[in-house]
Amino acid sequence: MQHFNIAIDGPAGAGKSTIAKAVAARLGFIYVDTGAMYRAMALYFLRNGIDPSDEAAIEAACGQVDITIHYQDGAQQVILNGENVSGLIRTEEVGNMASATSVYLPVRRKLVELQQQLAKTADVIMDGRDIGTCVLPHAQAKIYLTASTAVRAGRRFKELQAKGQECDLEAIEKDIKERDYRDMHREHSPLMQAEDAVYLDTSEMNIDQVLDRIIGIAGERGLN
Ligand code: DC
Repeated sequence: MQHFNIAIDGPAGAGKSTIAKAVAARLGFIYVDTGAMYRAMALYFLRNGIDPSDEAAIEAACGQVDITIHYQDGAQQVILNGENVSGLIRTEEVGNMASATSVYLPVRRKLVELQQQLAKTADVIMDGRDIGTCVLPHAQAKIYLTASTAVRAGRRFKELQAKGQECDLEAIEKDIKERDYRDMHREHSPLMQAEDAVYLDTSEMNIDQVLDRIIGIAGERGLN
């Protein structure tokens, strides 16, 4: 059976995961958060003191890392070498390490394979940086979700504050700019809009408007 795949790509803080989760709940799809997989790998590198600029060490470490995912009450759980690390990967430190280490091919190969396997098993909405361009080039619906840097930094700031994490708006905006630059200019699978993706700037949109628009796009692309 052919499964319906929705690919969402975009820069850090564009609201991809919030939106993708809501779309998945509305459509009964499985939500696959690929950033969480890169973050779990990054956590392993951080814990083991691996220098993100040391490509050989990163490549060697890839052989020691096993990432799997499973679902608990509909929420994706990321398992790193048998440990559920889902609650440990949402920090700026891990996010920056994930951005720095996702530039390497051995890291990407390992995770792209896992992502492609998941998309074969169910109707999925998957978000990341290279989903429409590399992971699921045949996805029926593709969206490039973005917002201005200031709006994205503001959203991330509120999110971290709500979790009680100490944060500074200016530092977050600087981080986001650096992360965007690295994710868009790396050699392998840089973040870019797929030719057949719909560009959606959510700076002036609320969650319900974005949700309706994406469900509309899925309908236009053949979802019953
Ligand atoms: O979406 P996120 O912030 O959780 O992603 C963290 C980093 O992982 C991001 O800065 C780049 C990398 N990433 C990637 O290279 N490819 C993906 N499909 C998803 C994330």
